[in-house]
This record gives sequence, structure tokens and C-alpha cells, in this order.
Amino acid sequence: GDVNAFNAYVQLFTMPLLMLGLMITSLGQAMASLQRINEILNTPIKFEDGKLSIKNFEDIKVNNMSLNIDDTQVLKNINFEIKKGEKIGILGLTGSGKTIFLKTLIRALEPTSGEILLNNENIKNYKIKDVRELIGFSFQENFLFNGTLFENIKFGRDISKEKVLKAAKIADVDEFAKEMKKGYESNGGERGSNLSGGQKQRIMIARAIAPKPDLLILDDATSRLDISTENRIFDNIKKEFKEISIILVAQKISSVKDCDRIYIFDEGKIVEYGTHEELLKSSVLYQEIELSQRNHE
Ligand SMILES: Nc1ncnc2c1ncn2[C@@H]1O[C@H](COP(=O)(O)OP(=O)(O)OP(=O)(O)O)[C@@H](O)[C@H]1O
Ligand SMILES: [Mg+2]
Repeated sequence: GDVNAFNAYVQLFTMPLLMLGLMITSLGQAMASLQRINEILNTPIKFEDGKLSIKNFEDIKVNNMSLNIDDTQVLKNINFEIKKGEKIGILGLTGSGKTIFLKTLIRALEPTSGEILLNNENIKNYKIKDVRELIGFSFQENFLFNGTLFENIKFGRDISKEKVLKAAKIADVDEFAKEMKKGYESNGGERGSNLSGGQKQRIMIARAIAPKPDLLILDDATSRLDISTENRIFDNIKKEFKEISIILVAQKISSVKDCDRIYIFDEGKIVEYGTHEELLKSSVLYQEIELSQRNHE
């Protein structure tokens, strides 16, 4: 109704890059997609925008960060670090705060106490738009809309066709797009209903890497992929984007074991961190996860 139309309108200004491309590509499609995208991006910016620009990622340091939602403390005293070029893994049981944590890093949620430093400056002081251009993210919910594979990767942004197709290749979308009659012009269906779980995940990864972000955040983005496909994608990413930094939330230890550091979340806290080898020695939780997954590989 009117309220939705108004929201969509407002969104056009808050998310101009995302929407404009879609509007131009195909208006009818865009209107159908609008509601879906609206749902997706309905993370209104509730807090003040910063003034500083940022173009390059050096590091993130999270110091004693806590976050309350309503009256519940969902993140407790988080200390975390990632430097340029590092690949960081995050593991933890369901509901342990992994997604919420990632959302603070792109300013979709604001810490209640403590601080997030991006290149040694409080993340609050940067323009949100800049932060979200620097950091590519793929959240675990599947945010595909009823459009072509190409449009789902491009996601309405001002990204050249070459870059979109390159991202698709890196994320191994090529593998199944080529098999489809219309290739990248094939329709993914409502919420990607024409695609398998692993195909949807590859589209989401392609979408996240298409703008060549300095820092890539993948929340449970590879759970439906087999290990060889997953490895191939990460090898491609590292080959194409040499300086890229990655934060990877995963379910499988095999997804994170080569990371520079792995953080273990439990009940909103980071209970342990280290390399795969260190955690195998020091963390009972990690040992348990490793043991339970050993026979499935
Ligand atoms: N919008 C919200 N409002 C209130 N509480 C929330 C909200 N989103 C998540 N939570 C709560 O915060 C806690 C952490 O949720 P989060 O989604 O970060 O878990 P997770 O580690 O990502 O789990 P999973 O592995 O299932 O994805 C949960 O207890 C959840 O119920
Ligand atoms: Mg999650």
C-alpha cells in the first residue's frame, strides 16, 4: 500500500546505488523486486552517520564491545582483530552471536559499550556508505529476488558487466549458469526457487565480491557447498584479489582450518581463539566439533 510505496521511495534515497540499476534495467521487474529488496535492506539507519571518508582497509580492532538488544545482552565484551590480508574464521553454536557481531562491523547495529576501530578510528566517525563499499558482505539468509542470475549478482549497483561476470566466474556460478538454457539471463525464481541451495550460495558470494571489496564478510555462505567447490572458490578469490581480507563464519571446521585465526563464539562471548592447531590443543569445544565432523569428510 501507500506505506510500502513510501518506504520504497525512502529506500531509493538511502540505498540509491542498489536501486538505480534495477530501475533502469527493467522497471516492471524492479517493482516486483522492490518489495523483496526492501525487506532485505530494511535495516534503517537509526544512528548518526559519520563524516570521514574511507577508501582502504588496514585493520579492524574491536575492544570490549558489548551489545544489548532490548534488555538482553547479546554480545559480551568482545575483543577481536583482523589485519589487511588476513583470513579469519568464526565458529560457534547456533544463537551464539556470530551474525549479530558481523552486523556491528558494517554498522547495521551499534555497540552499547566498547568500540570498533577501523583503521584506528572509531567506525562511528565514517560515512556508512563508505564503510559498506569497503566491506562486502553476504548474510546467511538468502536474499535472492525474482530476476535473472545476472541481475541477482549485480544487485542494482553501478558495476560493469565485465566485473559482474568475473565475480560470477570466481564464485563458480559459471559452472551451473553455462548449463542453463539462457545462461546468466535465466531466471532464478522467487527467492531463488529455481536454484539449489549451493547455487544460491554461489550467487550470494558473487554478489558480495562483485564490487571488489577490501574486506569480505561471509556469514555461513558456504554451508551448502562441497569442500572441493568451496576450496576452489577461495583459491579463485585469493588469486584474483591478492590483498583481500576475509571474515568467514562457518559450520565446518574444514572451512576455517587454514585461517590465520579462528574465533569461537559461545553465548555472545568469544571464548577462545587461535589457529586450527592451537585450538585442537587448547579448546575442548573445538575438539568436540572436530571429532563430530571427522567422519563426515
Ligand atoms: N533482531 C533481534 N532482536 C533481538 N534478539 C536477536 C535479534 N537477532 C538475534 N537475536 C538474538 O541474539 C542472539 C544471537 O543471534 P545470532 O543471529 O547472532 O546467532 P548466530 O550465532 O548467528 O546463530 P546461527 O549459527 O544460528 O546463525 C540469539 O539469542 C538471538 O535470539
Ligand atoms: Mg547467524
